[in-house]
Amino acid sequence: MSSDPVCIDDFEQHAKTFLPKTYWKYYSSGSYAHISFEESKNAFKRLRLRPRVLRDVSSIDMSTSILGDKIDFPICVAPTAVQKLAHPNGEIATAKASYRAGSCMVLSTWATSTIEEVAQSSPKGLKWFHMYMLTNENDNLSRIHRAEKEGYKALVVTVDAPYRGSTTKDPLYMPPHLSYINVESYNCVLNNPDTATEEELTGVNPKNTWDMIQWLRSATKLPVILKGVLTAEDARLAVQHGVDGILVSIHGGRQLDTVPAPIEVLPEIIAAVNNKCEVYVDGGIRYGTDVFKALALGARAVFIGRPVLWGLSYQGEEGVYKVLQILKEEFRLAMGLMGCASLKDISREMVVHQSRYS
Ligand code: FNR
Repeated sequence: MSSDPVCIDDFEQHAKTFLPKTYWKYYSSGSYAHISFEESKNAFKRLRLRPRVLRDVSSIDMSTSILGDKIDFPICVAPTAVQKLAHPNGEIATAKASYRAGSCMVLSTWATSTIEEVAQSSPKGLKWFHMYMLTNENDNLSRIHRAEKEGYKALVVTVDAPYRGSTTKDPLYMPPHLSYINVESYNCVLNNPDTATEEELTGVNPKNTWDMIQWLRSATKLPVILKGVLTAEDARLAVQHGVDGILVSIHGGRQLDTVPAPIEVLPEIIAAVNNKCEVYVDGGIRYGTDVFKALALGARAVFIGRPVLWGLSYQGEEGVYKVLQILKEEFRLAMGLMGCASLKDISREMVVHQSRYS
């Protein structure tokens, strides 16, 4: 790339030309016809903003808190697997950038850096740990204890993947120097993908039910966030089971195709939850105006997945930092132009569907 990227699309273009084809495919793919993946971005484009004028926006405060911990702006880092395909420092670079930016990072179970080295690389950074509830209960318990010991502040439990979506049906053949370093038992399976069963390849226990929350409660005092809830019915069940947060997500369009875009589902979840837990959203967020729309529709914060991988592939820690800074500054500008000096000024009626104007 001849000049520095100035928007998230620029980082994506760089990654597309820079990354080896198989890594690019692994990161960028959605499942089946890519309908949900594309919709996650297009749905934002169908929303229109209704700005207010003549309000004092000379100083703009984007800070907020998630589960009681302060962040400088409401844009956090979603869990994404195998970040060392994008840069040799992988998750460690991401954690450092997230800390420098004043954000929160979620470390994936399928990380290529250990729970401990990521924690120790940014001891003061706000970090949550992502849990896949695997068939091996001792494995689950061990990861929870390691995350607790290293100061991760919450568990993000992904519930939309009892089986792998079609995008990952071709197992990613890891380069020999990398592994799913936090889950040794899974590496054995992946080293022999041709003989492994579908259940073994998925890793996640398809027998999991809502009882899992109770098990988690007995295993840890950390707050629990469910990632991948897409209906009011399940949001109500999540609240009944005492979760602390819901991350509305379609897994970056990599699991069940033709589910609606997360931003379209968000209002239904917000209504069902009725302020009983925090609600966040991820999927397709590429502009500061997308962040604004998500907050106007009720999200407490948003998470980004692929943009972080594009930043990593561009310049490691510095690249992720730039991605976060660009989105943060775009969001600041959106707030100013919308007449909002702080997050509490962002309100529901500021976002409407485009059909209102056609
Ligand atoms: C993901 N995502 C994901 N989610 C999860 O719960 N556990 C995981 O290990 C992963 N791994 C993963 C790898 C890659 C390469 C991608 C692209 C995504 C999904 C991720 O957390 C998030 O939901 C989406 O990436 C958000 O959509 P955007 O921001 O990529 O559009």
